[in-house]
Amino acid sequence: MAPWTRLALVPLIAQVVVASPMPDANHEASQLNTRAAEGYDSPPYYPTPDGGWVSDWAEAYEKAQQVVGNMTLAEKVNLTTGTGFFMGPCVGQTGSAPRFGIPNICLQDSPLGIRNSDHNTAFPAGITVGATFNKNLMYARGRALGQESRGKGINVQLGPAVGPLGRKPRGGRGWEGFGADPTLQAFGGAYTIKGMQSAGVIATIKHFIGYEQEMYRMSSIITKGYSSNIDDRTLHELYLWPFAEGVRAGVGSLMTSYNDINSSAASQNSKLLNGILKDELGFQGFVMTDWLGHYSGVGSALAGLDMAMPGDGAVPLFGDSYWGSELSRSILNGSVPVGRLNDMVTRIVATWYKMGQDKDYPLPNFSTNTLDETGPLYPGALFSPSGVVNQYVNVQGNHNITARAVAREAITLLKNEDDLLPLRRNDSLKIFGTDAGGNSDGLNSCSDQGCDKGVLTMGWGSGTARLPYLITPQEAIANITKNAEFHITDSFPSDVSANSNDIAVVFINADSGENYITVEGNPGDRTEAGLYAWHSGDDLVKAAAEKFSSVVVVYHTVGPVIMEEWIDLESVKAVLVAHLPGQEAGNSLTDILFGDYSPSGHMPYTIPKSESDYPESVSIINQPFGQIQDTFTEGLYVDYRHFMKANITPRYPFGHGLSYTTFNISSPTINEVTALNTAYPPAAPSKGATPVYDDAIPAASEVAWSSTSFTRIWRYLYPYLDNPESITTSGEYAYPDGYSTTPKPQARAGGGQGGNPALFDIVYSIKVQVTNTGSRRGKAVAQLYVELPSSLGLDTPELQLRQFEKTKELAPGQSELLTLTVTRKDLSVWDVVIQDWKAPINGEGVKLWIGNSVADLPIVCTVDGGCSSV
Ligand SMILES: *[C@@H]1O[C@H](CO)[C@@H](O)[C@H](O)[C@H]1NC(C)=O
Ligand SMILES: *[C@@H]1O[C@H](CO)[C@@H](O)[C@H](O)[C@H]1NC(C)=O
Ligand SMILES: *[C@@H]1O[C@H](CO)[C@@H](O)[C@H](O)[C@H]1NC(C)=O
Ligand SMILES: *[C@@H]1O[C@H](CO)[C@@H](O)[C@H](O)[C@H]1NC(C)=O
Ligand SMILES: *[C@@H]1O[C@H](CO)[C@@H](O)[C@H](O)[C@H]1NC(C)=O
Ligand SMILES: *[C@@H]1O[C@H](CO)[C@@H](O)[C@H](O)[C@H]1NC(C)=O
Ligand SMILES: *[C@@H]1O[C@H](CO)[C@@H](O)[C@H](O)[C@H]1NC(C)=O
Ligand SMILES: *[C@@H]1O[C@H](CO)[C@@H](O)[C@H](O)[C@H]1NC(C)=O
Ligand SMILES: *[C@@H]1O[C@H](CO)[C@@H](O)[C@H](O)[C@H]1NC(C)=O
Repeated sequence: MAPWTRLALVPLIAQVVVASPMPDANHEASQLNTRAAEGYDSPPYYPTPDGGWVSDWAEAYEKAQQVVGNMTLAEKVNLTTGTGFFMGPCVGQTGSAPRFGIPNICLQDSPLGIRNSDHNTAFPAGITVGATFNKNLMYARGRALGQESRGKGINVQLGPAVGPLGRKPRGGRGWEGFGADPTLQAFGGAYTIKGMQSAGVIATIKHFIGYEQEMYRMSSIITKGYSSNIDDRTLHELYLWPFAEGVRAGVGSLMTSYNDINSSAASQNSKLLNGILKDELGFQGFVMTDWLGHYSGVGSALAGLDMAMPGDGAVPLFGDSYWGSELSRSILNGSVPVGRLNDMVTRIVATWYKMGQDKDYPLPNFSTNTLDETGPLYPGALFSPSGVVNQYVNVQGNHNITARAVAREAITLLKNEDDLLPLRRNDSLKIFGTDAGGNSDGLNSCSDQGCDKGVLTMGWGSGTARLPYLITPQEAIANITKNAEFHITDSFPSDVSANSNDIAVVFINADSGENYITVEGNPGDRTEAGLYAWHSGDDLVKAAAEKFSSVVVVYHTVGPVIMEEWIDLESVKAVLVAHLPGQEAGNSLTDILFGDYSPSGHMPYTIPKSESDYPESVSIINQPFGQIQDTFTEGLYVDYRHFMKANITPRYPFGHGLSYTTFNISSPTINEVTALNTAYPPAAPSKGATPVYDDAIPAASEVAWSSTSFTRIWRYLYPYLDNPESITTSGEYAYPDGYSTTPKPQARAGGGQGGNPALFDIVYSIKVQVTNTGSRRGKAVAQLYVELPSSLGLDTPELQLRQFEKTKELAPGQSELLTLTVTRKDLSVWDVVIQDWKAPINGEGVKLWIGNSVADLPIVCTVDGGCSSV
C-alpha cells in the first residue's frame, strides 16, 4: 500500500474525527445557532418530490421501478449508503444488489482526470477549459474524461465543479470550475456533462452551493462550518444558474457542499434540495454528500439527500453511519417514510439505467488506495482479504491531443508590444523560473499535487490526477530551438549576460487548492501568498526586466493575480496567461510561443489592479471560533459586475484576450425567434407520473443478518441490524417545523429539467460576420453581453455575459458567420415575490452587446432598432 494516499487524508480525518454529532434536522441546527445572520434562515420545504416525471427519463424510471419494486429493505439501503472510508477500490462505493445485477456503484474523483490512478490523462483544469471559450473542446474533454472513467470501471465521476463560482479571488478551489461568471460556468459544466455522459459515465455536478472559501468549511467540535448567507435573487441569478444548466443537460448526480446556507447544512437543507433542486429545477438524478459532509440520518433523508458518501458518520472508519443500518432502523421505526427510501433508490437505479450501465459496463480495475498490483481489498478494515487491486488498464487513447488542444486554446495573450510574440525559432532566448521546469523531487512526488514545484499544471487537493507524463516548458522549448539558455531558478542569477537581441522569457505561477493540505502557508485559500506570484516571482520578472530589453512573462495561475509591479515596465512587452495546462503544459505553450497557432484564450475572470478594488465582503474570513457568517452582501456584484458598478478600471477586463492576427466583427443582424410577449413564461405542462410502490413498512427480517455463512468485514458498512424484530413504530419522531408528507403543487418556475421549458425558448438570434483582417491564421471569440432595461424595476448589473461562440481557425481574409442565440431566461431577472423569471415584454429596452471582452463591445443590437457598430 503506497502510504501517500492515506497520509494525505489524515488531516481531513483529523478534522472530522473531532466532529460532534450534528442535530438531526435543519430546524434544530438553526436553533442551536446563536450567531445566525439576521434575516437569513432557510424555510422548511417538505416532502421531497419524487423523481421520474420527466419524459426523457421515463424509460429509465420504468426499468428502475421493476427492480426497486422487488427489492428488500437491505438491498434498498445498500444502494443509498457508502460501504465506508477506504472500503474498496474507489474513493467511495455503495453497497450492491447482486440479485438484480447491480454492483457496488463506484464513485471516483476528479473533474480533470482520474485521481490517484495510472495510465490516465491529466487534463487541463476547469479554469483552463473556461478560458478557451470553445464549446466543442468543452464537450470533447468531457467525453474523453468519461471514456477514461468508464475504462477503469468508474460508474460515477465526481465532476464537473461549477461551485465555487469564483466569488473570492483568494478562494482555494475556484480553478476547478470554469470562471467567475455564471454563464461561462454553465456552458463549461453542461458541455462537460454531456460529453462525460455520452460515454456512459454518470457525471456529478458539484458543490451545491455557496462553497466559496476553503477555511472553516467543515464542522468540528470547535465550530460549525461557515454559513453562506445568500439572498434568493442572488442565488438564482448567480450561484444556481450553472446548476440549472447542468440539470437541463441531464446530469445524473449532484454533490452537496460542506458549508451551511442560511445556517442550514447543504446536505440537509430541505429548501435547497427538496424545493429548489428537485421541484423548481426538476432534478431527476440523485443527491450525494461530499465526503464526510453527512451530518444527520432522518433529517437529511427527509430534506432530500439520496446517497451518503463515503457512508461514515461523525467519526469515520469505525463502522458507524447515519445511514446504513440506521437508515434500516429509521424505516422500521417509521421515522423515514418508506416512500422516501423508494424514491432515493429509484433515483439511483434509474440513473444507472439512463446511462446504460446495465449493459457491458466494466467493474473497477484500479485502486484509489495504492499503485501496487496487489493489496488489501478493504484497506479501512485493518484485517482485510488481499487480491489484485490494480490492472493498470491504459485508458489514455489519443486524449493527449484533446488535452493539448484545450491547454493551447486557453492560453491568453494579455499584452504584445511591438509584436514581440510570436518568437522566431532562431531568437536568442534566456529562460527563467522554476515554473519552466519539472518537479525537482520527481513527477507526482507530492500527494494530490500538494506542493508548488516546477511548472504548475493544476492546483492541489481531491480535484487532481497523477500526471502520466509531463512535457515541461523547458523540454518543449529545448526541442524547438538550440538558442535557449535555461536558468531554472526563482532567484535571478547575478552572472547572466544580456545581449541586446536577447529575449527573456520569465515563468511564474500562483497556486491554491483544497483545505486538507497546506502548501507554503496557504491552507487551500491563498491566505499567505495573496494575489501575488509564488516564490517571489514578481521580483524575478522585475530583475529580468532590468537586464533585458525584451521580456515575455508566462503566468500559470489558478485565478486572479496582481501584475502592477511589472506590467507597465518598458521591457515587459508580452504576457501570456497559460492557466493550468495539465500534462501537455510544454507542447501547448510552444504551439503559441513560436507562432504555430495564434493565441485565442480569453480571461475567465478579471485581472485587478489592486486587491482593494474588490468588495470587502469577498475576502477570506479567518475566524477560528464561532460559526462564520459569510453574508453575500455584494449580491450580484462579483468580478466584472462589481468592477463596472464601482466604476473601477481593472488591469485586464473579463473576456480580454489578444491574437497574433486581427479580427473584425461586422454585418450584425437580429431576428426574433419566439415572441417574448409575456413578462413571465407561460405555465409549464403538468408533471408526468412517478413510480408508485407499496409503501408499507417491510418485514424486519429483511435487514436481519444472514443466517448462512457470511464473512463480515470489520468496520464495513452494512444495512443489517441485530434483532430488528425488536424495533417498533411506537415512538414519536420530532419532525422539523413545516414537515409534511403531502406533495406540494409544482413550483411556478419549474416544469422540466432546469426549470420551466419556456425559459429556454430562443427568443432572439443574432448573426455576425467575423473576418480575419490580419496576416496570420487564428480563431476569434464573439462574446454576447445583455444590458437589461431599468423598466424591470431592479438594480441589475450593467452587462452580463449570456452567450459566446468561437470561430474555426480562419486564414487571413477568411470570414465565418457566427450565430449567437439568447433565451427568455437570458433576458430575465428573478422576481422574488412572484417566484418566477421576469423578462421585459417584447424585449423592450434590451440591448445586446457583442465583442471581444466586457470592455470592448463594438456591436449593439436592440429588438426594434436592429444592430449597429459603435
Ligand atoms: C436565505 O435567506 C434569504 C434572506 O432571507 C432568502 O432570500 C433566501 O431565500 C434564503 N435561502 C435559502 C436557501 O433558504
Ligand atoms: C418484480 O419483477 C417482475 C419481473 O421483472 C415484474 O414483472 C414485477 O412487476 C416486479 N414487481 C414489482 C412490484 O415491481
Ligand atoms: C449489500 O452490499 C454488500 C456489498 O457491499 C453485499 O455483500 C451484500 O450482499 C448486499 N446485500 C444484499 C441484500 O444484496
Ligand atoms: C428511528 O431510528 C432513527 C435511526 O436510528 C433515529 O434517528 C430516530 O430517532 C428513530 N425514531 C424514533 C421515533 O425513535
Ligand atoms: C477492467 O478493464 C478491462 C479493460 O477495459 C475490462 O475488460 C474489465 O472488465 C475491467 N474490470 C475488471 C474487473 O477486470
Ligand atoms: C499521445 O498519444 C499518442 C497515442 O496514444 C502517442 O502516440 C503519443 O506518443 C502521445 N504523446 C505523448 C507526448 O505522449
Ligand atoms: C532569423 O530568421 C528569420 C527568418 O525566420 C530571418 O529573417 C532572420 O534574419 C534570422 N535572424 C538571425 C539572427 O539569424
Ligand atoms: C519535438 O519537436 C518535433 C518537431 O518539432 C516534434 O515532432 C516532436 O513531437 C517533439 N517532441 C516532443 C517530445 O515534444
Ligand atoms: C470592420 O467592420 C465595420 C463594420 O462593422 C466596418 O465599418 C469597418 O470598415 C471594418 N474594418 C475593417 C478593417 O475591415
